[in-house]
Amino acid sequence: MLKTAHGTETQDQILSITPKTQEQVDILKNVSTQYETALWQPVSPHYIKEETQVHLFVPANSSETVKDLLQRHAITHEVLLANPNELIEMQTRNDSTDPRSSSTYYERYHSLEDIYFWINRTQQDNPDKVKAILIGSSYEKRPLYVLKLSVNNRPNKKAMWIDCGIHAREWISPAFCLWFVHYSLSFYKSNQDITNILDNMDVYVLPVLNPDGYHYTWTTNRMWRKNRSISRNTKCIGVDLNRNFDANWCTEGASDEPCTEIYCGAFPESESETQAVANFLRIHKDIIQIYLSIHSYSQMLLFPYSCTLEEAENHSELFEMVQEAAQKIKRHYRNSYRYGSGAKTIYLAPGGSDDWAYNLGIKYSFTFELQDRGRYGFLLPPSHISRACNEALLAVKTIALKVNEKTKAPTTPAQTI
Ligand code: ARG
Ligand code: ZN
Repeated sequence: MLKTAHGTETQDQILSITPKTQEQVDILKNVSTQYETALWQPVSPHYIKEETQVHLFVPANSSETVKDLLQRHAITHEVLLANPNELIEMQTRNDSTDPRSSSTYYERYHSLEDIYFWINRTQQDNPDKVKAILIGSSYEKRPLYVLKLSVNNRPNKKAMWIDCGIHAREWISPAFCLWFVHYSLSFYKSNQDITNILDNMDVYVLPVLNPDGYHYTWTTNRMWRKNRSISRNTKCIGVDLNRNFDANWCTEGASDEPCTEIYCGAFPESESETQAVANFLRIHKDIIQIYLSIHSYSQMLLFPYSCTLEEAENHSELFEMVQEAAQKIKRHYRNSYRYGSGAKTIYLAPGGSDDWAYNLGIKYSFTFELQDRGRYGFLLPPSHISRACNEALLAVKTIALKVNEKTKAPTTPAQTI
């Protein structure tokens, strides 16, 4: 907590600001680039526009300057979160030994070290169903493990890929990957949907695609998004891994400026995390039918394209799938998810993993943005993990079952004589 000149106490805050005029838009763009703030929404100052909410993390030491500036230009703001530090503290507290805590392992956030430990234990405890595969390493040389869930050796079995944690600060995302694996192992044979899915396809789960960034959010800066690679000729660190894939790479919606949050990197697949995933998918592209990437926040079910406004060849098929998923979430959990192609639903964002996987031939390719819609943003409290994950799980099941149905080999008709 800092004391300002006027003696009032200030601390870090998240502000919600809706600019009403072009002048206010320009001021906000300035504030989010000139001051030590972190833009939560939209992802880049470029997208700030009139009548659209901006979510801005303002650290204590910039608080007074920023608020003065807003006031001077008659820009009203609302404090979205007055005590993010308390929330951050709550989410990183190691309460696994706290007897008062009733939450399970899967209803808490876990450090990278914990997640590596969990990967190991999950494979050891389920030798017949789980195998950890090393697919590469991160910039800082951390291993990238994919868990392969496979309950039988049916010939010509297809597969689904799920990755989490491509953006470091989206903590609900790795939490979902852990949730999904745990759910699959716990309810195989007792829940009909997951049984049906696992009987018919293997699932590859990458719990943390960006381990260096994730680690950094636990130790140093909770708001970090990119990876941690260092490039020549700049002090700024990190590439946005979801702009680094080879899909209309670094066109509108990405930036070649290393200091931005949407820096596309030096060239497509310049990052070792991107390379590891792209290589694995290239090798397995004929068996992987579904590609799924988990992000937060804003509650959206997206599909290609994000790198162009053009429609994907099976646009209506994909649209129907996410529509059904969103309707089920609405019915079961009374929560709304927007859905559609990425470029039309949020913004142009080239170089994304979903578009790249789609162009590789994985025709059922999706990006989910999980809870919430901005109340807590990236700081979704642990008590919300189970709801957020169950909603996403329902969407995954809906899509996987639909793909199963669509691609089932036609049963050979009984022989007639
Ligand atoms: N919020 C995500 C991002 O900015 C959206 C991802 C949608 N898909 C995409 N290829 N951009 O990266
Ligand atoms: Zn993201």
